[in-house]
Amino acid sequence: MNIRKLGIDEKAPMDLLLLADPSRTIVEGYLKRGECFVAESGGKLVGCYVLLPTRPETVELVNIAVAEAHQGKGIGKQLVMDAIQRARAQGYKTMEIGTGNSSIGQLALYQKCGFRIIGVDLDFFTRHYPEPIIENGIHCRDMIRLSLDLSH
Ligand code: COA
Repeated sequence: MNIRKLGIDEKAPMDLLLLADPSRTIVEGYLKRGECFVAESGGKLVGCYVLLPTRPETVELVNIAVAEAHQGKGIGKQLVMDAIQRARAQGYKTMEIGTGNSSIGQLALYQKCGFRIIGVDLDFFTRHYPEPIIENGIHCRDMIRLSLDLSH
């Protein structure tokens, strides 16, 4: 698998990006302000993520997604580790990530990659998304904020 930055003339993989966030407006905002990376295997696009600078020395990993047929094979973990390496090489000191209270698998993945829970943005999803989001039988209402110190 090869992970590379999306070229400036290339179209962003919207179908994949929307797997991670149902709001096209929010995804388009991330693409404008951040850098999109894509993972290819056997000539096919299998995953993507966006690195979004937020504060001095802090970058947020947003819109990480693996194509449904390729999930559960370790690609998500490889994408997170690739994002960490690139952010560190670019001089960032902290990486942040946010996910829904109902995103059990994602919370497992991020903590397995070293992220710690640092806070909860109560009612983030109820405030910003018009349709209710249900995942794993849980109403997604709050955003769990996680952080990784890139200096070690
Ligand atoms: N409990 C415990 N561990 C779990 C788990 C659960 N319910 N679900 C996943 N995991 C673990 C896996 O076991 C694996 O750990 P391991 O390497 O120690 O076995 C790790 O999480 C990641 O698995 P991986 O195969 O790398 O994940 P993936 O390729 O399926 O990618 C996503 C993960 C989240 C990117 C992918 O499922 C996806 O694209 N989902 C839709 C988009 C999305 O939700 N994006 C994130 C928005 S915050």
